Amino acid sequence: MRDKRNFFVLVNVLLLHLCLLVDITDTQLVINVRNQGGDVVQENISANITDDTVTLEFQRSDGTLVTQLIDFRNEVQILKSLILGEEERGQSQYQVLCFIFHFPKESFISSDAMAKLRQKNPSAIRLPEEDLGRSNHSMDYVVLLKHSGIISPHIADACAEAGLATYTLHEDVVKWATAQGLPVMSYKPALKKFPTTPDRFSNDADGESAPACTDIKNMWTPCRCHLELCIGWYPCGLKYCKGKGHARNSVMSYRCGIKTCRVCHLFDYYVSQKQQCLWDE
Ligand SMILES: *[C@@H]1O[C@H](CO)[C@@H](O)[C@H](O)[C@H]1NC(C)=O
Ligand SMILES: *[C@@H]1O[C@H](CO)[C@@H](O)[C@H](O)[C@H]1NC(C)=O
Ligand SMILES: *[C@@H]1O[C@H](CO)[C@@H](O)[C@H](O)[C@H]1NC(C)=O
Repeated sequence: MRDKRNFFVLVNVLLLHLCLLVDITDTQLVINVRNQGGDVVQENISANITDDTVTLEFQRSDGTLVTQLIDFRNEVQILKSLILGEEERGQSQYQVLCFIFHFPKESFISSDAMAKLRQKNPSAIRLPEEDLGRSNHSMDYVVLLKHSGIISPHIADACAEAGLATYTLHEDVVKWATAQGLPVMSYKPALKKFPTTPDRFSNDADGESAPACTDIKNMWTPCRCHLELCIGWYPCGLKYCKGKGHARNSVMSYRCGIKTCRVCHLFDYYVSQKQQCLWDE
């Protein structure tokens, strides 16, 4: 794979819609994306090669601010949302939630490629080429920020405002443990299970499941809340073109652009009061 990458180094500035600008100083890309409701949403995407991270940020038309941070080194993605409260219904001004889940390798172009991505026409309105549909993530734990470094060193900062509302799932903890060559048990100090999920660290019997917030009326009852967050446009892979090589009749491939995708994530997680999940009605 490395060799293959080196081979493509010849054309090492990626072209977005085949346009090239060599302005390496501004590392943030601002993309206008048409969402499924027809609105145009501005996405800011930036890469940090030192940290091997990519950050994508946008504000939904309902005011919700969404930040996605991908930590390539640890195969972790953080999806943070700042949701405006409904003050007339007794909610605080805003609520910050953080979802920490596994990042499948190669599902986003590398931070290095991202840092080199440029667009010639910044006012163009873009649509993704492929819709990857929706993935469901059923959360099992609250992540304790002060011990979250074992999952990713970026969680504590990125989710500082979501102290008791940073969530992850057991299935993904197992994936990280495997990738890092660590026993799953070493993640235990960073995790606090929901009162209604089974204790997977001790093989206890199943916990009693809380009802879905949509199914109950009482505002003070615990329930499972749902939140869907969609990334309307992102560079999900590289495109390769074939061209003539130096030797006669030889054909070589080179990077000639990016493939773009859209994906949605549906999270379900425990809340101690339906009051914290007013959108689920
Ligand atoms: C990348 O991350 C490093 C370490 O966190 C930080 O010092 C640096 O300022 C960041 N670079 C950019 C361009 O944000
Ligand atoms: C995106 O970047 C622009 C310009 O730097 C800034 O004005 C805007 O607030 C940013 N939007 C988000 C959602 O971060
Ligand atoms: C995800 O959850 C939704 C709602 O709970 C359900 O309708 C859908 O079938 C699920 N999708 C998958 C792939 O499990």
